[in-house]
Formats: sequence, C-alpha cells, structure tokens
Amino acid sequence: MLKQETVQIIKATVPVLEVHGVEITKTFYKNMFQAHPELLNIFNHTNQEKGRQQTALANTVYAAAVHIENLEAILPAVMLIAHKHRSLGILPEHYPIVGEYLLKAIKEVLGDAATDDIINAWAETYGVIADIFIQVEEELYQKAEGSGGWRLFKPLKVAKKVVESDLVTSIYFENEDGSPLPAYEPGQYISIRVKVPGEEYLMNRQYTLSQASAEDGYRISVKRESDHTPNGKVSNFVHDVLQVGDLVDVSVPAGLFVLEEASAPITFVSGGIGVTPLNSMLQSLEANAANEVSFIQCARNEKVVTFSDDIQEKVNALPNASYTALYSDEDKLITKELLAEKVANDADVYVCGPVGFMEAVIENLHEIGVKDEKIHYEFFGPAMQLTK
Ligand code: HEM
Repeated sequence: MLKQETVQIIKATVPVLEVHGVEITKTFYKNMFQAHPELLNIFNHTNQEKGRQQTALANTVYAAAVHIENLEAILPAVMLIAHKHRSLGILPEHYPIVGEYLLKAIKEVLGDAATDDIINAWAETYGVIADIFIQVEEELYQKAEGSGGWRLFKPLKVAKKVVESDLVTSIYFENEDGSPLPAYEPGQYISIRVKVPGEEYLMNRQYTLSQASAEDGYRISVKRESDHTPNGKVSNFVHDVLQVGDLVDVSVPAGLFVLEEASAPITFVSGGIGVTPLNSMLQSLEANAANEVSFIQCARNEKVVTFSDDIQEKVNALPNASYTALYSDEDKLITKELLAEKVANDADVYVCGPVGFMEAVIENLHEIGVKDEKIHYEFFGPAMQLTK
C-alpha cells in the first residue's frame, strides 16, 4: 500500500505529467535504448518512430496515478497490457530498467521542479504498478505453459503460404514434430519474432489468428504494407522472404478481444484487414448456433477483400445468418441506416478495423442506441483512447 503523502504528491503532480507526459516518455525511451540497446530486440521500432508507444505508456502511468487509491479500476487496462507483455516475453528483470529510465526522464524534463519528494513518490508508485504487472504476467506465463504451451518463444515451422488476395497472404505455422498446438480463443493473436535481413535488431509483431482454433495449426494473414515504410519491414519480409519450411519464433496466443459466450444476436463489422479476428470468431460458431448473425465486411474492392468466400460459405451454413460486403471503390460505405437495419435488437457487436473506421462505426452504433457494453472492439497498434 502506498503512503498517504505519496498519494498526495502523485495527485498533485498528475497535471504536470499530463502536460509533459509524452515528452517524458520520449526522453525515457531515447535514454533507455542508448543504455540498453538490447531492448530494441523487444520493442516495436515503428511505434517508437511514430510516438505511439510513448503515448500508451504516458496514458497508463497517468491512469494509474489518477486511480492510485483504487487500482482495481485500471485492472482491465492492466490485463490488456499484460497479455501484450506476456506475448512479447517481458520479464521481471526488465521492470527496474524501465523504472530507472522513467524516473531519470521525469527529472530531466521537469528539472528543478522534480524535487526529491516527487521523484521518491513516483519511484514508489512505479514499484507498486510494476509489481502488479509482474504478478499478473507470471500468472499468464504459467497459463501459457500449461495445456501444451510454452513460456516465451518457440520456433514453429512455416507449413504453408497461401495468397488470399492482392494484398493479403496467409502463413500456416505448425510444431516441427507435427504435434498439435495449444488451442486458442477466436480473436486472439500471436507474436512473431523475426530477423529481417539488413536489420540490426530482431523485430516483433502481433498478428491475429485468422481461423478457428484446431483447424490446421496457427494461421496468420498478413497485409502487405507499402515498401520503404518502417511498418512494411516485417510485412514485406513475411510476404517475400519467408519460405515454407522456415522456422519462426512464435509465442502462445494472447489477447482479450475474444468472442464471448452469448445467446444474443451477433453483428460483426470489419474494415480492411480487421477482418482477421472477426473471421476467426465467425468460423468458431457452432454449425447449429441459433444466434442471429450478421457479418458486414468493408473493403476497398473485390481484389483486396479477404476471406469473403469463407465468410459467405459459413454464413450459408448457419441457420440464421447474413453477409453484406461493401466496397468503397463502388461508393458503398457503412452508414448509420445500414447498421440500424443489420444490427438486431440487443445484439453484441464486434468491430475491428483502422482507427478512423472504428471511431465512425462506434459513433454510429451509439447514435442508433447500441449500449457501450454491447460494443466489443479492437484495432491494431498500441491501445489508444477511442472517442466514446
Ligand atoms: C506495450 C505500459 C513496462 C515493453 C505497452 C503498452 C502499454 C504499456 C500501455 C501498450 C499496450 C498495447 O499495445 O495495447 C507499460 C507500463 C509499464 C510497462 C505502465 C510499467 C509499469 C514494460 C517493460 C517492458 C515493456 C518493463 C520491457 C522492457 C513493452 C513492449 C510493448 C509494450 C515491447 C509493445 C509495444 C511496442 O513494442 O512498442 N506497455 N509497460 N513494458 N510494453 Fe510496456
């Protein structure tokens, strides 16, 4: 438990953190990577370049500070991050390094304003938050190791590569000895860790498993990002360099954006490559699922749409399901009216796609009266605040 004075100091410095949060975390990453370049084998360099991870860490420390007297309030956020950390192999010994450079960055950015009392209060708070993460992550590691899994990364064999569309290629992974891989929940992702030729450090990326569990190994479906962008490095490597028979380091499936057990109607709304978790969820539905199911898939055009045949086939096989494909090149966009028509009363709505798409869909869902607790969403990249 934190001392009362510490809580007071944290509360008083939250507004300062709010103003300088991004600068503090930017300074923090720069100095930490200078002193510990080996951590560049863990962090996503693209996120650093875009300042995305900086915002995520600043937001979390800020949220923890706001809820310092009731840390349970941020437990859902902690769980999401812990899943990501576990899938990347973040270990207890990493926490003191992050803590040290975070405090140094606060001192560097705030200068004399960061008195010893303030630094000590943040050190104590960071310690409390770090202990929570370490504990939750250890539980997740143990869970990953149980039921036929493993703790960190394991080399899996590329069993198959399948071109799904002009933009998307699927990779199927299997155990080298052919033994089954641990089951996962539809919507979960894996991390892969690869050595891209010409890159100094290993690169990690999360990709959603794009089919139902226990079909034929783990399948990810990777969109080709434009060449020459940092974002495209792993994607182009997967498309062009990775070959059948190669071994790739993979961690056990993780993530909390999963299909929840419900007898209510279900609507899936996907934008672009956001179809991957939603297809996994759809394909996992029992053949006799009585739920009314509606799948709305938005894509640019027929050449780049992914899994539309699989979705159509599954929808045909379900007793009470429909499928709508909307191509923006044909000026068919998702609208409030369409959602009002397709989202059944009391439906659980699962949304996945680019941030702008998700914001628009969620806003429309609110306008037609869908309650927050019925809207389930995930977008790719570090968690950012979506306008609710
Ligand atoms: C991701 C917070 C400690 C490595 C994240 C995210 C947050 C976060 C908010 C984004 C989650 C998302 O993508 O949805 C924190 C907090 C920490 C902490 C509050 C301390 C209490 C650490 C440590 C390491 C680490 C000790 C390892 C040295 C990462 C990595 C990612 C990540 C590699 C993935 C995103 C990327 O590669 O840029 N963390 N973290 N974190 N964290 Fe942490």
